[in-house]
Amino acid sequence: MQLPTALRTRVPLIGAPMAGPGGGRLAHAVSRAGGLGMVGVSHTRDAGWIRDQAGVAGADGTAYGVGLMAWALESNPAQLDAVLDLRPALVSVSFGEYAGPVRRLREAGLTTATQVGSLDDLARAEAAGVDVIVARGGEGGGHGRNDLATLPLLQLVLERTDRPVYAAGGLLNHRGLAAVLAAGAAGGWVGTAFLGCVEADNRPAAREALLAADRTGYGRVFDVAQQAPWPREFGGRAVANAYFEDWVGREDELDEAARGRFRAAVEAGDHSVAHVYAGEGVVDITRERTAAEVVAEFARALPPGS
Ligand SMILES: Cc1cc2nc3c(=O)[nH]c(=O)nc-3n(C[C@H](O)[C@H](O)[C@H](O)COP(=O)(O)O)c2cc1C
Repeated sequence: MQLPTALRTRVPLIGAPMAGPGGGRLAHAVSRAGGLGMVGVSHTRDAGWIRDQAGVAGADGTAYGVGLMAWALESNPAQLDAVLDLRPALVSVSFGEYAGPVRRLREAGLTTATQVGSLDDLARAEAAGVDVIVARGGEGGGHGRNDLATLPLLQLVLERTDRPVYAAGGLLNHRGLAAVLAAGAAGGWVGTAFLGCVEADNRPAAREALLAADRTGYGRVFDVAQQAPWPREFGGRAVANAYFEDWVGREDELDEAARGRFRAAVEAGDHSVAHVYAGEGVVDITRERTAAEVVAEFARALPPGS
């Protein structure tokens, strides 16, 4: 396994792209602390936003990555053009038809990654020539598959590819990172553990909901409520609130009244209704920390002196 130069970070840890909380400030802080931070780009963002956040993430020549959603590029190709211009150290393109974008990125000499949640996904990633595979289990926060948990998925993927593999989903601290490194992963791809960081771009009410959360749920409730055009095969893992419990399993019955209630709650920061995407590890978020503290905690997985 040959690790691309950009990924030879002091701590084998990538701050996962997280549309919403994961902007330039968080990416910059993760990279400065010894990992590689990524900017998460939601489907609604334009090229100007990406350039602004890249400026923050990459200040003082700091390395950073950008995470795109493949399905969003079909209607918003300017996102890819902006990233091609910016030339970040790593570009992930996940969820949808990414073969074309990956080809363009690789032709431009950029290092690419994609998140896989099944062995079919792995086969597609290899066929597309993606440089770095992220084995993302169903414990993970935000969108993805919920078919396999991180540990079985990681073992299956490592047995079948020679490409560098990062493990994602449910890595809370140095113990999780040590476990996946021992299994043969190149590092951890971590989102939720950074959600309570002072550098994250989430609102105070969302942060309170994260600190209070004791359980997550997986499904399409919040996408249907927002009419977000996510492909049906990718649900999301979020803090399980009363609204989620009410509608999970009957998302297709969500009507305009329920959507209106959801919109009002988002506006008001009422997280008994509004969503907060997070993985199972959210129960470990008990106080605000800096990204440097979180990276230092993960770095305890490394041998002393490294
Ligand atoms: C709030 C949130 C937003 C996310 N947004 C994105 C995104 O924009 N693009 C992406 O590829 N993955 C996204 N993800 C998934 C992460 O990249 C990653 O797979 C996940 O956080 C790993 O599991 P963990 O949360 O248990 O650490 C998001 C995750 C969270 C928690």
